[in-house]
Amino acid sequence: MRTRTSGGPPTVPLPRMPARHLPWLGPLPAFHRDPVALLRGARERVGNAFAFPLLGQDVVFVSGPEAHAEVFEADETVLSPREAYRFLKPVFGRGVAYDAATPEEMDAQIAPLRAALGSRNLDGYVRVMEAETRAQVARWPAEGEIDLLTELNRLTVAIATRCLIGEEFHRRMGPELPRLYRELESGIRFAGILSAKAPLPAFRRRDRARAALAEAIGEVIAERRRRRPPDEPAGPAADGQDMLAVLLAARTEDGRPLPDDIVTGMLIAMVFAGQHTSAVLAAWTGVLLLHHPEYVPRLRGEQEELWAPGSPLGTRALHRMELLDHCVREAERLYPPLVLLMRKALRDTVILGHHVPAGSLVMVSPAVAHRMPEVFRDPDRFDPSRYAAGRAEHRRPYSLISFGGGKHRCVGPAFAYLQVKAAWSVLLREVDLRPARSGYVPDYSTLVPGPATPCTVRYRKRPGRPS
Ligand code: HEM
Repeated sequence: MRTRTSGGPPTVPLPRMPARHLPWLGPLPAFHRDPVALLRGARERVGNAFAFPLLGQDVVFVSGPEAHAEVFEADETVLSPREAYRFLKPVFGRGVAYDAATPEEMDAQIAPLRAALGSRNLDGYVRVMEAETRAQVARWPAEGEIDLLTELNRLTVAIATRCLIGEEFHRRMGPELPRLYRELESGIRFAGILSAKAPLPAFRRRDRARAALAEAIGEVIAERRRRRPPDEPAGPAADGQDMLAVLLAARTEDGRPLPDDIVTGMLIAMVFAGQHTSAVLAAWTGVLLLHHPEYVPRLRGEQEELWAPGSPLGTRALHRMELLDHCVREAERLYPPLVLLMRKALRDTVILGHHVPAGSLVMVSPAVAHRMPEVFRDPDRFDPSRYAAGRAEHRRPYSLISFGGGKHRCVGPAFAYLQVKAAWSVLLREVDLRPARSGYVPDYSTLVPGPATPCTVRYRKRPGRPS
C-alpha cells in the first residue's frame, strides 16, 4: 500500500522488525546481547528498511549504500546527528560539539581539527607512534602472554594523549590516564543514551574522571596561553604540532580565540572519539592475523622492502604498505569499532521510499552494512585482496562506512590508519604471536565492541630484534 507524505511522492509504509517483542520495551534483551545479529537477521527477513520500538523510542533501521547516502547526506534540519548524540554532553561538556548552539557552531569547532588531521604531513605523529610501540614491547619479558586489547589500549592512550593534548599533559597525568579514559567511556553505555542523569555509579565515575581531566587540561592551557598570549597570531599547523596548539591558534568567525572550556571539551571529545576506537581496530587486526598466519611472511616481506632497519618510520613508507593496509581495512570491515550510527528525524522524511515519521531515531550499522553479500563478495571471509586494484569492492560510495560519511564523516581516519599501521609494523618486526585461546568474539556490552577480554595471546620476541 502506498501513501503520500505532505504532498510528496508516494511512500511505502515501513515494515516492522519481525522478531517477537513487547510493545514499549521492544527487542531490548536481544539488542543488548548482540545488536548486530538482531539487525542483520531482521534485514535478511524484511529488507533494507524496517521499524521497531526500543524503550519507548521509535527506531527506523536502514541499510545498503543507497540508504547510507540518504542518511549521511540528509540536511541536518531533517536528520540531526546533534539531537541523536546529545547524550555525549556529560563527556564532551556544555556547548561542545553535538551540544553546540547551532550546527554551524559545531562545524566551526571541528573545522581546524579536520584541516590539521587531514594534512598529509603527519610524520611527527608517526615518530610518536613508533616510539611508543617500541617502548611498550621493550617492557615485556622475552616471552609470555599479554592481553592484546589491554596492551593496545595502553598504547593508543599514550599516542592520543601526546599527539592531541600534548607532552606536558602526558608527563603530568601519564600513569592515571588509562583508568580515567576508561571511566569516561564506561559512563556511555546504553543506559547513558536513555538518561544521562540517572544516578548510576558508572555516571558518577564518568563525571569525576571528566572533572580530573578538565582540570589538568585547563592548567596546561593556562601555561600555554602565558607563553603565547591569545592575540598573538599563531602560524598554520606544523608537523607534529599537537591538537591543543591547533585549537589555541583557531579563531571564531569574529576573530576571537576559542574559549578555554570549548578547547578542553574538544580535546576530551577527540580522545574519546579516537583512542579506544583505534585500539579496537588494532586489536581486531591482530586477532584476524592470528587466525590467518599465512599472511604474516608476506607482511614481513613488505616491511623489509619498505622500512630499512635503523631508519625512522614515516608516513611515506606507511602509505606504501599496501598489504598491511588491506589487512587493516579487512579488520575495519569485519569488526567496525562503531557498530551503530544514529540520526534523529526532526521532520517527517522519506528513506528508500519509506515514510519516516518525525521523532524517529534513524540507525545505520557499519557492522551490518559490511557483511551485505550484494556489496562484498563472500562477506564473512577475511580476504584482503578485495581491496586490490581491479576488484576494489570498497570503492562503491558508502559501502565501507566505519568512519561514517558526508559532512560529519570522521576527522581521524588518516591518524587512525597511521597509528594502527605503525603499531603493527613494529609488532610484526619485533614479536611472534600465537593465539592463547580459541574464538575471540565481540563484546557488545560496550559502545565500541572490541574482542571480549581476556583477549590473551602468546608472544615471543624475535631474535636479533631490538627489545
Ligand atoms: C578506528 C578509529 C575511528 C573510528 C572507527 C571512528 C569512527 C567515526 C565515525 C563513524 C564517525 C561519524 C559518526 C556519525 O556520523 O554518526 C566519527 C566522527 C568523528 N570522529 Fe572518528 N573514528 C575513529 C578515529 C578518530 C580519531 C583518531 C579522531 C580524532 C583524532 C576522531 C574524531 C572524530 C570526530 C571529531 C568526529 C565528529 C565529526 C563530525 O561530526 O563532524 N575519530 N568517527
